[in-house]
Amino acid sequence: MFTNTSGFYRITTVLGLFFCTLLLIYCSSPDKKETTAQQEGVEKAKKDTPELADAMGQLQYYTHKYTLAVDAQNHELATFYFHEVRAAADGIKKNIPGYEGYDIARFMKLFLDPTIEPVETALANKNWEEVRAKTIEMVNSCNSCHNATSHGFVKVTPGFDNNPYNQDFSAPK
Ligand code: HEC
Repeated sequence: MFTNTSGFYRITTVLGLFFCTLLLIYCSSPDKKETTAQQEGVEKAKKDTPELADAMGQLQYYTHKYTLAVDAQNHELATFYFHEVRAAADGIKKNIPGYEGYDIARFMKLFLDPTIEPVETALANKNWEEVRAKTIEMVNSCNSCHNATSHGFVKVTPGFDNNPYNQDFSAPK
């Protein structure tokens, strides 16, 4: 059939390429769909779910550093961290106003906001007893909101004397 070997190789190469292309098209198209669906899922998850948890994590982080500074009666440091607590809370209201059908901004205003100013006033007066009492009220409001938004299993505590950080919170002598 073939007069020389190069003709044979040419036809097998062409046929081979043809089948390879078919195979590629067949295999890659459903895969592609799956990958984009996966990517969309990941992006959606990035956009929706972790953001509020991340922001809440920040809120918890600064709240705890604040309570450790309160425990050490380090006024400058406590004031600094409480400012961060407030900024984190304001950031949530502004940037994540809604989540899983909950009006987060409204819930934040309802639960957390009324507890912020009493802490600030007590802190400004360096009334440490009052600061602790008002801080406990604030942390209770965090948990009240968790209950109201089906996250009652996230129970935060003041953590006054529970230092997990590689940081010395003591007031300068
Ligand atoms: C709007 C009401 C609301 C208020 C007020 C609120 N939270 Fe949350 N918090 C949530 C919701 C809703 C979630 C779950 C977020 C999610 O599922 O992504 C959450 C999750 C968390 C988490 C879990 C995320 C993590 O990093 O472990 C922590 C911790 C947390 N909140 C701490 C706090 C602290 C501390 C305060 C108060 C200073 C507070 N929250 C106030 C609604 C609230």
